[in-house]
Amino acid sequence: MHSTMAPLITFKLSMFIILTLQPPPTLSLTPCRTSCGSIAINYPFGIDDGCGAPQFRHMLNCSTDLFFLTPSGDYKVQHIDYDKKTMTIYDPAMSTCSILQPHHDFIMTDIQSVTISPTPDTVFALLNCSIDSPVLNHYKNLCFSFSGHSCDELYGACNAFRVFHLLTNSSPPCCFTGYDTVKFMSMNILDCTHYTTVINTDSLMGIVPSDWVYGIKLSYSVPETGCERCSQSGGTCGYDTETEGMMCLCSSSSNYTRECAGGSLTAGDHRSSHSPWTFFNVAILLVLSSLPVI
Ligand SMILES: *[C@@H]1O[C@H](CO)[C@@H](O)[C@H](O)[C@H]1NC(C)=O
Ligand SMILES: *[C@@H]1O[C@H](CO)[C@@H](O)[C@H](O)[C@H]1NC(C)=O
Ligand SMILES: *[C@@H]1O[C@H](CO)[C@@H](O)[C@H](O)[C@H]1NC(C)=O
Repeated sequence: MHSTMAPLITFKLSMFIILTLQPPPTLSLTPCRTSCGSIAINYPFGIDDGCGAPQFRHMLNCSTDLFFLTPSGDYKVQHIDYDKKTMTIYDPAMSTCSILQPHHDFIMTDIQSVTISPTPDTVFALLNCSIDSPVLNHYKNLCFSFSGHSCDELYGACNAFRVFHLLTNSSPPCCFTGYDTVKFMSMNILDCTHYTTVINTDSLMGIVPSDWVYGIKLSYSVPETGCERCSQSGGTCGYDTETEGMMCLCSSSSNYTRECAGGSLTAGDHRSSHSPWTFFNVAILLVLSSLPVI
């Protein structure tokens, strides 16, 4: 009895050692960076070309910090919430309650305004508008108030905006509006010299403008391209940089269209097929463990 079981125990032990010594799948196998500073970069985003979803190509740049690139400028990414599918960006050149900066527009590409557009609780405050502004005339129904706040309040409550009031000795027209207004009409058409943006406007009841959070919250949708299947097989979702067709990046030496090759050591790249191979090993180990130990 002893003599027949001993080799089995040795085998079992060596299997265990082999399993524990197997290196875990490492992220360095893909050419995709997974963070920029303190911000995690996950699907559908990518910093390196060919990573993430093609719909979000060329939208992020990780130089010193993470930036969201638009035709009107590069905006600092403050936060990405992968559960709520939102990204909060901040324009360092934008006027806020505490600083008045030169006028400029907020412009997104057509693709951006569809795939990652500002949330409804991001409010654009158009300031120092002329009396001929469309939002005071034909489009005045595009202006609203939120959480009990009026736009005029900004002129009195913000150091940065008091100057508008001082020069004319009256409050120039202003308008709280949504992104769609800014999307279809530039600041020149709107005839307002400045704007600022406020986020989380649903929760600002009774809060003074100097305590509001200035920035833009974007809401994105994740394209259904089978990324889950790819990441479950140990790969990273990306795309072919020429065709923009979805690719599962398995290792630096092989790319598969849908998922990483499962369990086939003959593929010559066993590092890309960790999961199935490990499952196989674990199965053997479980069978072995169920045998009586002497
Ligand atoms: C990202 O930023 C760096 C440094 O500012 C710049 O050299 C590079 O061209 C930028 N890349 C893109 C895609 O804009
Ligand atoms: C406010 O708008 C007027 C034109 O409507 C402009 O002349 C003035 O310079 C603006 N104020 C500031 C502080 O930019
Ligand atoms: C796999 O895809 C990456 C990213 O697109 C590319 O850099 C690499 O050359 C590809 N490898 C092969 C073997 O096609």
